[in-house]
Amino acid sequence: MAIVFHEESKEFHIYNNEVSYIIKILENNQLGNLYYGKRLRDRNTFAHLLQGDLKPLSAYVFENDYKLSLQHTKQEYPSYGTTDFRYPAFEIKQENGSRVTNFEYHSHKIFAGKKKLDGLPATYVEEQTEATTLEITLYDSLINTEIVLSYSIYENRPVITRNTRFIHKGNSKVILTRTMSAAVDLPDSDFEMVHLAGAWSRERHVKVRKLEQGTQGIHSMTGTSSADHNPFIALKRPNTDETNGEVYGFSFIYSGNHLEQVEVDTFDRTRVLIGIHPDTFEWPLEDGEEFQTPEVVMVYSSQGLNKMSQSFHNLYRSRLARGYWREKPRPTVINNWEATEMDFTVEKILSIASAGKELGAELFVLDDGWFGSRNHDKAGLGDWYVTNFNKLPEGITGLANKVDEMGLKFGLWFEPEMVNKDSDLYRNHPDWIISTPNRRSSPSRNQYVLDFSRKEVVDYIYGLMEKVLSESKISYVKWDMNRYITECFSNDKTAEDQGKTFHKYVLGVYSLYERLIARFPYILFESCSSGGARFDPGILYYAPQGWTSDDTDAVERLKIQYGTSFVYPVSSMGAHVSAVPNHQVGRITPIETRANVAYFGAFGYEMDLNTLSVEEKEKVKDQIEFYKSHRELLMNGTFYRHLSPFEGQVTAWSVVAEDKSKAIVGYYKVLNVPNDSWKRLKLQGLDPNKQYSLNGNPSRIHYGDELMQVGIIIEDKDFCANAGDFSSAIFVLKEIEALN
Ligand code: DGJ
Repeated sequence: MAIVFHEESKEFHIYNNEVSYIIKILENNQLGNLYYGKRLRDRNTFAHLLQGDLKPLSAYVFENDYKLSLQHTKQEYPSYGTTDFRYPAFEIKQENGSRVTNFEYHSHKIFAGKKKLDGLPATYVEEQTEATTLEITLYDSLINTEIVLSYSIYENRPVITRNTRFIHKGNSKVILTRTMSAAVDLPDSDFEMVHLAGAWSRERHVKVRKLEQGTQGIHSMTGTSSADHNPFIALKRPNTDETNGEVYGFSFIYSGNHLEQVEVDTFDRTRVLIGIHPDTFEWPLEDGEEFQTPEVVMVYSSQGLNKMSQSFHNLYRSRLARGYWREKPRPTVINNWEATEMDFTVEKILSIASAGKELGAELFVLDDGWFGSRNHDKAGLGDWYVTNFNKLPEGITGLANKVDEMGLKFGLWFEPEMVNKDSDLYRNHPDWIISTPNRRSSPSRNQYVLDFSRKEVVDYIYGLMEKVLSESKISYVKWDMNRYITECFSNDKTAEDQGKTFHKYVLGVYSLYERLIARFPYILFESCSSGGARFDPGILYYAPQGWTSDDTDAVERLKIQYGTSFVYPVSSMGAHVSAVPNHQVGRITPIETRANVAYFGAFGYEMDLNTLSVEEKEKVKDQIEFYKSHRELLMNGTFYRHLSPFEGQVTAWSVVAEDKSKAIVGYYKVLNVPNDSWKRLKLQGLDPNKQYSLNGNPSRIHYGDELMQVGIIIEDKDFCANAGDFSSAIFVLKEIEALN
């Protein structure tokens, strides 16, 4: 691994065994980009890769010198207004109204390791040798402002991370109106853009489209990362599939408004911009002030989409998620939400918990409805203490003790950022909600958003949560967030600071998470946002798992979990078996299939298990047993996507142990096909020389090479539920003997 500066050619080469990224200080002292992709052997100069001769009508930088036009130059952190007409990476409004800047190379630093980002989530290193960082400082003397571009390359991963810092040294006020975390110019446009789009209950569906000249992109202006567009895009070559071909993945470690934009110019060059959405952002900098952008993670793979995803999984599992639960086996959950919603009694709760305990669950989670006057969704949010002693006579402490006595851990639901007008909190602090003066405040689910851009609001909520969590035996917190932000305005800010509100809100959320995890390091946090509306890498830094979707239907979950796996590891995806007919889609699927899908996630049940037949209860017992004995592999193994739910009736995926001694394969059939052809499923990642048994069956023993070249021969008897609609099969592969 290296970051080299070639003095003579003024080029930086950032590389490891898998990737190269090359930057050049151009003739005008600004930065150009020469290359990003598969590792290139280092050499003194790659200047010939600049290739940007003037075209007719080009505006050029120097008088009487017709060589350099930024319009045709691949740039590193482009600005608008000085010969480049594409979208810029940043924009700074100055006191005289101008937005034209000239940031020239000033200095650079190369050092071992990777810095933390103040107040923001980011990937990290545990040893300084794991990564090397390059910081390039650019300077505009007219406005006395610096931009520091930061690049970290991991030693053993095809990963480069980026962020940008703006430092206003003084003399006049500047206003940042666009601050992308990263810009990448690529030399051609022969790509398809892959992204994860959706809505409540169908989050992160995989979309693929060919790039065309002009701009295309995704964004969120909801105040959160959103269910609509996950902060991720990939550019893949048209022939790239799961196993072969080139792909560039860009993931944004942020939980607020974001923009991922791809612009193809009329000469077929591609510009990728990733950062905080500029349309909802404006950040004045006084003398001496700084602004730090969130981090972008760039993964390059020349071996298809699976390799890209595995690189994200490894990084996010071990160097983004943190703390006690990072790589620990997660407890099997029993959650009461779909069983009772807010209508419960202590007896009911204890009966659900005890049925869970009897069948092997390890953690009971009490969902919404325990606090304030919360019996419906019009009241209570904000009052994080028990007032309804008819419902919970001994409060949370008493209930948690009873659950603890059963031998189960106890978890509790909160929605810290929200308030109902019918609450003590709102009655005492009506000005604490985000709302624009003299305008209507739009409710959503009858609730309003607390202004987390204000420290006193966050402090107040911290105080309430800290009290509950310290007074009772609580091992888990489900942190929900059930609406988007409208009428964004902060009552404690001046007119010119209003453009900070969205970002400061996100910083407030992060700060509350940070304080709570520091105070309660052994509590397992699960994020949630009406299901998966804030399932992003920013939150993963604080909560190692998230509720993937409110849609618990096994068939719908195939698409949701498959799409989520493009970026996020199995260990991060909360996945529960629920009752049928399914609450979201009314579908009836076999209990085996519901579990076979949920195993590939942080597993649990979201139902009253007392309602099951004796036979079903036995199945649940076996399922929990199965999960417990395989969860380390399921959560931390290498995940492969084999067959896509977006392309046919069959979905298949697998996880393979790091030492390749074991694998678990999930194979799912949605609608049955009459008189169907014979099926084989080719696996990946096994050791060709190892022999594996399939589900312990002595007559199904195969070498890894056969399982990868020929595949598992799928038989009708492999399926649950008579191989009909919605049936599925699980194959456990175990090494029985090594050939060599
Ligand atoms: C939305 C979540 O996604 C559900 O799991 C549940 O916690 C409800 N909120 C409770 O209001």
